[in-house]
Amino acid sequence: MPFEPGDTVIAAATRAGRTIPHLCWHPPLGPSGACRLCTVRVDGRLVSACTTPAAAGQVVESETGDLRERRSLLVQLLFAEGNHFCPGCEKSGNCRLQDAGYALGVTGPGFEEFFPRHAVDASHPDVWLDFNRCILCKLCVRASWEVDGKGVFQIGGHGTGTRVIVNSPRGRLVDSALAADDLAARICPVGAIGPKRLGYAVPIGQRPADRREPAEHGGPGAAP
Ligand code: SF4
Ligand code: FES
Repeated sequence: MPFEPGDTVIAAATRAGRTIPHLCWHPPLGPSGACRLCTVRVDGRLVSACTTPAAAGQVVESETGDLRERRSLLVQLLFAEGNHFCPGCEKSGNCRLQDAGYALGVTGPGFEEFFPRHAVDASHPDVWLDFNRCILCKLCVRASWEVDGKGVFQIGGHGTGTRVIVNSPRGRLVDSALAADDLAARICPVGAIGPKRLGYAVPIGQRPADRREPAEHGGPGAAP
């Protein structure tokens, strides 16, 4: 597989037309290794493809039965941890987690659902934040720091209490520097951050994932 200096395994694979499933990889943002969905086997070792540098002579395995099983369990766990009621979610059809579920043939939660009950932050005039659907991919955090230059979000807590925190005096979006056209407000791969007044602008059933046949689901985000 050809690669360029500085490439990670997933970057080289993508350039070569191969899809490695991923949720938190989003160039040009730096890699974070948050979701582990891109786990592949390189020279026999399990590694995340988005943080492992490509190197000459590497043997990369991505589509083995055990790797698909790992990804399937991971996706089921993410669904179980959050309130992902796809038919009622504005992100349905545009959601990378949902797309991963389709690609991996996930038909149910697989684990007992947590049904979290965090208050939705609807304080911002243009953006809502539903913590109950957050998969802790850190994309909003990285986008706000690396691209928007604002540091609106960070990850706080630990264990099952880990969650996205809004950096503002009252910890609410309305007090923060977030603007609707910030990358951080637009990058969420699931239905945890979204714009107000744009609900269902494209009807469910006509969205990108809705239009693909199951076999076409190349994984969560064929493009980053
Ligand atoms: Fe990722 Fe969205 Fe959660 Fe931010 S709010 S960490 S972008 S899932
Ligand atoms: Fe590699 Fe998330 S850990 S895409």
